[in-house]
Amino acid sequence: MSEEFGNKLPRHVAIIMDGNGRWAKAHALQVAAGHRKGVETLRGIIRESSDIGIEALTLYAFSTENWKRSPAEVGALMNLLLEYFTSEIDELNEKNVCIRILGDKAGLPDAQREAVTQAEKRTESNTGLKLNIAINYGARAEMLSAVRAIAAQVEKGELRPQDITEETIAGALYTHDLPDVDLLIRTSGEMRLSNFLLYQCAYAEMTFPTVLWPDFSLADYHAALSAFGRRDRRFGGRKE
Ligand code: IPE
Ligand code: IPE
Ligand code: MG
Repeated sequence: MSEEFGNKLPRHVAIIMDGNGRWAKAHALQVAAGHRKGVETLRGIIRESSDIGIEALTLYAFSTENWKRSPAEVGALMNLLLEYFTSEIDELNEKNVCIRILGDKAGLPDAQREAVTQAEKRTESNTGLKLNIAINYGARAEMLSAVRAIAAQVEKGELRPQDITEETIAGALYTHDLPDVDLLIRTSGEMRLSNFLLYQCAYAEMTFPTVLWPDFSLADYHAALSAFGRRDRRFGGRKE
């Protein structure tokens, strides 16, 4: 691990990649061009995370609420998604990256669902960076399906309500085998979670750089990681 981050590299980094639309507007471009530039940023951040030894990186790519956008923008995002998974899979696989989709894949168009499922299958036994891409993801929808799965176990008599623990809940989420989020980064200056990893971020350190996602550089990423290394995490306790 690089000295730069002290000895405190976060195990799990989550990023809300925000600001593509404003970037496009500032450059007098169509919104799709902003998303395309955003994918370039994402490539660099994934490579860097793998190189410096981050254990898990979770990227918010498309929320359950993003379907509200115009059909043209949703279509552009879905096309980019397909393009990304087709063009990057070989390199990611070579880098030993294990890809997982967080979200409701059933709600995706057929081609996209097949491409992401293929990517998951091809990389499932890889032991490097755990790359989680949240697509058609919403934390409330995730919790709803967890509650339903737990209720079904109770109904079948496999689980008693008094035996439900915090681990039972965590275990029913898409992130069941991942550590909690240590560092959450949201670009573009917005300071909200927008329905992202509400359960998993209970004790996340958060940072809200004002830079728009297409302009988010490796230096910005390093600054966020270094700031994390300087945070005093108490988890409710007190250090004497
Ligand atoms: C984030 O950029 C990317 C997605 C939501 C897919 P935005 O498109 O939300 O960018 P702004 O917030 O409009 O600038
Ligand atoms: C959150 O950003 C979703 C993603 C980055 C994929 P939004 O831009 O959709 O969030 P709001 O609407 O500003 O809360
Ligand atoms: Mg936005």
